[in-house]
Amino acid sequence: MDFSQRYSYSFPTNIRFGAGVIDELPAHLKNKKIRKPLVVTDGTVKELPFFKSIIVDLDKSGIQGVVFSEMQKNPVKTDVLNGGDVYHENKCDAIIGLGGGAPLDVARAIALRVNHTRDLFDYDDLLDGWKLVTNEVPYFVTIPTNAGTGSEVGRSTVISEDESHKKRVLFAPQLLASQVFADPLLTMDLPPFFTAATGMDALSHNVEAFLAKGFHPMADGIALEAISLIAESIEKATFSPDTESRSKMLIASLMGAVAFQKGLGIIHSLAHPLSTIVDAHHGTAISLMFGHGLEFNTPGNEAKMKRLAEALKIADPETSVSAHIMHLTQKLNLPQKISEIGVKSDHIAPLAQLASEDFCLPCNPNPATKEDFISIYQKAL
Ligand SMILES: [Fe+2]
Repeated sequence: MDFSQRYSYSFPTNIRFGAGVIDELPAHLKNKKIRKPLVVTDGTVKELPFFKSIIVDLDKSGIQGVVFSEMQKNPVKTDVLNGGDVYHENKCDAIIGLGGGAPLDVARAIALRVNHTRDLFDYDDLLDGWKLVTNEVPYFVTIPTNAGTGSEVGRSTVISEDESHKKRVLFAPQLLASQVFADPLLTMDLPPFFTAATGMDALSHNVEAFLAKGFHPMADGIALEAISLIAESIEKATFSPDTESRSKMLIASLMGAVAFQKGLGIIHSLAHPLSTIVDAHHGTAISLMFGHGLEFNTPGNEAKMKRLAEALKIADPETSVSAHIMHLTQKLNLPQKISEIGVKSDHIAPLAQLASEDFCLPCNPNPATKEDFISIYQKAL
């Protein structure tokens, strides 16, 4: 830490959290005089009974939800442009993002899009695009249905280029949700595989935020508490979920996204190219790279690893944090090798190239070269 520097910290989202809070949505929208929100979700959530009953409940309150669900698993620019067109065609007056990471990312990008008509990637964070976000952003509600990305409290959205599938980050402070409804009951029926994979993503956000470079004791404190919550609930939430385990996972995933305003690191830099090149699900890619990234980060960060071991409640002092995480992915029946998700040895060079250019890498505590990435991917193959 450097006490001669100045820092910015920001924790401003309104959150309603708890079992059943979704029943407050119609009254909340009515209170805000919203009559026709664009409800952005994905094709899977759209068919679930709880989603249909949310739309019916809105209807009973005189609110017509216009459903938009056409999007890729890793959303692309065209998805966002189409959603913006649907918003205008229907004269919508608010946006509700409801689902996992992809629908919330698309919803946030549509919220940007509706009153900002330049090329979508002019708003790229790497180009300081937030400076172009000068018009009004619609009232924006987020409702997570899994405990993973924590995107409900984020201010950025990851959208890929249509052709290259290169991920671009759009960021602006105005893209923060006006209101979050975080209801653990909406996550109750998530199948074991996705509970485990998205849960490992949430865990990685907290772990990477804690390890990230920079002085942010508030983010560190939030991350450590969230790690404890996940450590005591991820197996139960995966194999025999109840309200308590689902509640702990949901609040901890939300805390992860608050904490990672400090930064992420090499685990995400290793995982992102797996989505680009073999279209891997983000949580699955994270769980595959999690232990390897921690192993790489251990030298020089032993004191922080000790605090992580305490938060993770690792009983045996001989067990490293990286070994513990690899064992946890086994217990959760998650894939163990990147070859299981379609990676071949020919993919390693392009994977390493993308990882070495990844936007999360600058915050990683230990510098990594392209050769480091090649050897990590080889180990994981
Ligand atoms: Fe993530």
